[in-house]
Amino acid sequence: MTKMEGSPRGRILTLGDCHGDFNAVHNALIRGKHAGCIAAIQVGDFGFFPGELEKFMPSIGRWPLPLHVIDGNHEDHEWLHRQRTHRRGEALLQWATDWDLHYHPRGTVSELCGWRVAWCGGAAHADRPQEYAARPSLHRRGPPPAPTWSSWVSQADVRRTLAAIGDRPVDLMVTHSCPYGLGIGMAGSDFMIPGVMKHSFKFGFEIGPEGDFGEQYLTDLWHALPNKPLLWIFGHWHVRQARKAQSTEFACLGTCEGECRESAIWQIITDSDRPRIHALK
Ligand SMILES: [Fe+2]
Repeated sequence: MTKMEGSPRGRILTLGDCHGDFNAVHNALIRGKHAGCIAAIQVGDFGFFPGELEKFMPSIGRWPLPLHVIDGNHEDHEWLHRQRTHRRGEALLQWATDWDLHYHPRGTVSELCGWRVAWCGGAAHADRPQEYAARPSLHRRGPPPAPTWSSWVSQADVRRTLAAIGDRPVDLMVTHSCPYGLGIGMAGSDFMIPGVMKHSFKFGFEIGPEGDFGEQYLTDLWHALPNKPLLWIFGHWHVRQARKAQSTEFACLGTCEGECRESAIWQIITDSDRPRIHALK
């Protein structure tokens, strides 16, 4: 437990994939605020596409709670990379200032509501070709080792995350998918299997044992972490499920879009001594 001295304690609303359904996110944040949450985390597949936020945000002005977001696989990663790198990330600063929207790039660590949080978005596509940019000379068999940007979590992202974490443990890990083979139990749907074989397995990714699938480089990240986080939240699989692996609680958040049942989509991290996740009543 690495509760930080002097930082405000508070409940954090956590949201799964929303795929650009910003109205659903807005409604969830209003509900979370009424329930006493002071911040929100959305775990990727947020809907980062050119012009979409600019279209939506004038209708609400700002998010009702500080909204902390990572990237999933279904984003425009090239565009997002430009927002992050052009003029030293001026666009991201503006999102934070104007909209209270805080995008956390892969391989960063920050303090949120008294918890030390590591952020590492991205995931391999299961239903379409992988997207990336890399020097052609780096393309051999399998995925490129150090793409400039990619839909999936790369080895370089893992190295950055480990470097950012350093020797001090994090309380909370936020990713879009999860490690495989730890007993987290992500099975996927049968109808996704041909797509996974075509776009992920044949691309060179390991996907783990049947019924306990996940992301290759997040698995490497887990094994390389000298201190395991207390809580690890993710989305991507569109199910709501929590399992413990070693001393870490892994929680997959259900989707936050359309007409999903409230109990399935909105969960909170408590402000007790150890971060725990509960359904928002
Ligand atoms: Fe996803």
